[in-house]
Amino acid sequence: MSDLRIFTGNSNPELIKKICKYLSIPLSSSTVGKFADGEIEVKLGESVRGMDVFIVQSTNPPLENLFELLLMIDASRRASARRITAVIPYFGYSRQDKKDEPRVPISSKLIANLISTAGANRILAMDLHAGQIQGFFDIPVDHLYSTPVLVEHFKKMKIKNLVIVSPDVGGAKRAEAIARRMGNLPLTIINKRRPAPDKTYITNVVGDVKNKNVLIVDDIISTGGTIVNAAASLKREGAKDIYCYCTHPLLAKDALQKIENSKLKKLLVANTIPLKKSSKKIEILSVSELLGEAISRIHEETSVTSLFV
Ligand code: R5P
Repeated sequence: MSDLRIFTGNSNPELIKKICKYLSIPLSSSTVGKFADGEIEVKLGESVRGMDVFIVQSTNPPLENLFELLLMIDASRRASARRITAVIPYFGYSRQDKKDEPRVPISSKLIANLISTAGANRILAMDLHAGQIQGFFDIPVDHLYSTPVLVEHFKKMKIKNLVIVSPDVGGAKRAEAIARRMGNLPLTIINKRRPAPDKTYITNVVGDVKNKNVLIVDDIISTGGTIVNAAASLKREGAKDIYCYCTHPLLAKDALQKIENSKLKKLLVANTIPLKKSSKKIEILSVSELLGEAISRIHEETSVTSLFV
């Protein structure tokens, strides 16, 4: 791994430490700070000429996270890196991914264009909001799923009589894949409507959860409305213990409070985004080894297929 260099911005210092530990390499030095007026200032602290550069940065708010990534890619390209891989554990601006109503942007396509234009040669992402975002890039995208970490953890919990639940129709495929991986468990789908960006309500639950333990799976938890409403509906339908796994814990506004007061027994999240505050109900599952292994295999040009489950 002598020509592997790994850099990061300020999005997730804990995750990068764990990835470097897994790879047994030091984090390459860089300065990612600000000018007095607030503009971002980037400088790589070592030569990357001819190197295989990985820049690990989630692009959750604030917008600086995305901008730091773009500037670090640009700096690496101008410093003659051989190859630049943007490792994006959480790909922000992914929720507007189609023009499904008048006068809306396709934000994820614009972000993909920005990252490519900055000079990335490859992307490594995890649990993208929609698989088709891969196609917004004309460079190779390795799209990892965090499922193996969840499945391993949940199997150890040995919960009997379990049903997997998708909190909306859009997430049905994801939930079905997890149900299959956990031993062909039954699947229930919740019919959710979103009248405004941060408002949701539930029309009905498709499937039987009476006297069953349930695991709701979703990619993002933002205001918490989706999950908290889902948990309340499942309780009304007679579910017993309600668990939830959301890969990316954005936890906006009063989401933590809502979770505390909800019918959820436990919320499992990945460490793609650092948690602003902890909660007794939240448990963090680390995806650092999975990301580290993918980085190692991309660098060694070996297959990553077995990581895609
Ligand atoms: C929606 O399609 C996503 O998968 C999540 O369900 C959604 O982004 C969660 O948002 P919130 O926590 O604000 O309901």
